[in-house]
Amino acid sequence: MTLVLGIESSCDETAAALVMGDRRILAQAIASQEEEHAPYGGVVPEIAARAHAERLTPLIDKVLREADVPLADCDAIAATAGPGLIGGVMVGLVTAKALAMASAKPLYAVNHLEGHALSPRLADASLRYPYALLLVSGGHCQILRVEGVGKYQRLATTIDDALGEAFDKSAKIMGLGYPGGPAVEKLALEGNPKAVPLPRPLKGSKEPHFSFAGLKSAVLRAHETGEFSRADLAASFQQAALDCILDRTRKALETMDEVSALVVAGGVAANQTVRGGLETLAGEFGLPFAAPPLPLCTDNAAMIAWAGVERLEAGFDADPLDLKARPRWPL
Ligand code: KG4
Ligand code: ZN
Repeated sequence: MTLVLGIESSCDETAAALVMGDRRILAQAIASQEEEHAPYGGVVPEIAARAHAERLTPLIDKVLREADVPLADCDAIAATAGPGLIGGVMVGLVTAKALAMASAKPLYAVNHLEGHALSPRLADASLRYPYALLLVSGGHCQILRVEGVGKYQRLATTIDDALGEAFDKSAKIMGLGYPGGPAVEKLALEGNPKAVPLPRPLKGSKEPHFSFAGLKSAVLRAHETGEFSRADLAASFQQAALDCILDRTRKALETMDEVSALVVAGGVAANQTVRGGLETLAGEFGLPFAAPPLPLCTDNAAMIAWAGVERLEAGFDADPLDLKARPRWPL
């Protein structure tokens, strides 16, 4: 049975995981850098790279010990090679290269977005290609038709901010700290989603692309009036964001070739309101809905290991050890 060691270090989570071909996660560990970055209200690349460098090797060691598996028993090593903060990506990729060289195992350089895109298949063995995917994270907001490992048709992207970025920036405006998404979701539970009039950028437009910069600016203006409670602002922002993604995803589904399911992945997929709205939308199209469990939504190494499993089992060639980390790398 295939066994892959996965490494993730593209943003502010240092993570390692061992995943089997039958979807069992033998062990996984994540070291979050939330505390280091919180005073700055966002991820500081230099601090992130240093923290990855300090933590990654002990984390890999911990995962191998916990699973009681020697590196020699792994079939491959998979690491995020981009897109992301280049210093962090380099730490993960160089570590993976060193392990691959020392153990004579193949290296799979995984696109972080592919990790997110395939994560629902790690959680759900019944999810078949092709599926419609809304990929919503801190850095990306895309609608894809996932046709197979390495086969992605992109139907939409954001023309400015990513959805997670809009959550984070709105949270910052409201003084909710970093990371903003979970804080906005929590506070929104106490607010009225209709209290604050906010725009729905690009709603109704022909192409299914996204835009969130105008929504964030409207949150700023509403906040500055002092007329609204933070809870009402959070709830109204979340509702406006949801309306946008439902409208855009509906548009994409109307023109997309046949798919087996509507799937959401990436950090913002952890949001219950987002999940609920998309589940209803899937129902409108007579499609099953799938979303990974919460720990697989935000950055983790199990999804990177799983992408490695899929690449290995699909017969992809291993990547060369001189492969470069890529700060930008579209799927
Ligand atoms: O996928 P991820 O962990 O990292 C990237 O690849 O970007 O996504 C992180 C993003 C952040 O913007 C964070 O605020 C957002 O996901 N996020 C959420 C929630 N949990 C994380 N946004 C809304 N509601 C949540 N519960
Ligand atoms: Zn991510």
